[in-house]
Amino acid sequence: MAGFENIEKLTDQIESEKAETADQIEAFRIKYLGTKNVIKPLFAEIRNVANESKKAYGQALNVLKQKAEEKYESLKAAQEDQSAADVKSKIDLTLPPAEKYEGSRHPVSIVMGRMIDIFEKIGFVVEEEREVEDDWHNFTAMNTPADHPARDMQDTFYLKDSTTNLLRTHTSSVQARVMERQEPPIRIIAPGRVYRNETISARSHCQFHQVEGLYIDKDVSFADMKQTLLYFAREMYGPDTKIRLRPSYFPFTEPSAEMDVWMGTETETTKRLTKGTGWLEVLGCGMVDPEVLKNCNIDPDVYTGFAFGIGIERSAMQKYDISDIRLFFENDVRFLRQFGSVV
Ligand code: PHE
Repeated sequence: MAGFENIEKLTDQIESEKAETADQIEAFRIKYLGTKNVIKPLFAEIRNVANESKKAYGQALNVLKQKAEEKYESLKAAQEDQSAADVKSKIDLTLPPAEKYEGSRHPVSIVMGRMIDIFEKIGFVVEEEREVEDDWHNFTAMNTPADHPARDMQDTFYLKDSTTNLLRTHTSSVQARVMERQEPPIRIIAPGRVYRNETISARSHCQFHQVEGLYIDKDVSFADMKQTLLYFAREMYGPDTKIRLRPSYFPFTEPSAEMDVWMGTETETTKRLTKGTGWLEVLGCGMVDPEVLKNCNIDPDVYTGFAFGIGIERSAMQKYDISDIRLFFENDVRFLRQFGSVV
């Protein structure tokens, strides 16, 4: 019978179809499964088939249709396997493996950690406090009057819609917080991040780090401060390190000084960091002003003390010969990876 013959013919044809590329497979789909496929006309033929054979004819057609679908699926699967194999064969096994990188500490953390170790050895304990401060702890308690230029909008980041909440401009705010809650003797260091509204350049940034120190007890003298800072400098920069104390001014210390460490002018970095003088400015310090003690409920007739604030970035720049402070905050792995073996 003509109808059945056509089904057989198409069955053979489907079986022998070869399609390898995506285009060929799509052509197969259009031909046998598309809206105008070659099987469809055979369905129309059913009216010419003798009544007793109609059922068998219909079934045979359905089998044919199913065959076409199965063939299409298997062609597609074969093609997917092939393209995966193609990708694999393109992998170059002779290439050296990607470098294994284990992470490293940030140079600021390394230097900060070293400073903490040095002071912990002589009995200072670490205190950490908030970076979002209020006006009282950052300025007023620290004897910085309301008209002091440090409060200027140009130097301080105030929080939006607030004249009292700000990003701390120095770690000295921790002094006030600790003195308020703790009775002397007090011997603390406070490492942390501080913020100032400064133009970012190779030399200065709007964020940097300090380590604050505070020592309050009976009979603490300027000589005690000097010995403590000399010990720090020699541990940090080497046993023969020379320091000098220059008179300075801070609202919260009296007298006040700045400490420089002799670096020489041999390298380009020291030349730049010391502005050609050979002396690197490392910290500000002084005897805690009696007004500050009073503000924090400590009796200045009984207790005296000294405080200091060390800038971390400058020391790190000198130690690792880094010429631009911005590198510390860009998180460029090419920079950070260089500290992988440093502890
Ligand atoms: N807070 C000062 C600054 O940021 C440093 C300092 C701390 C000075 C403690 C004296 C005493 O520059």
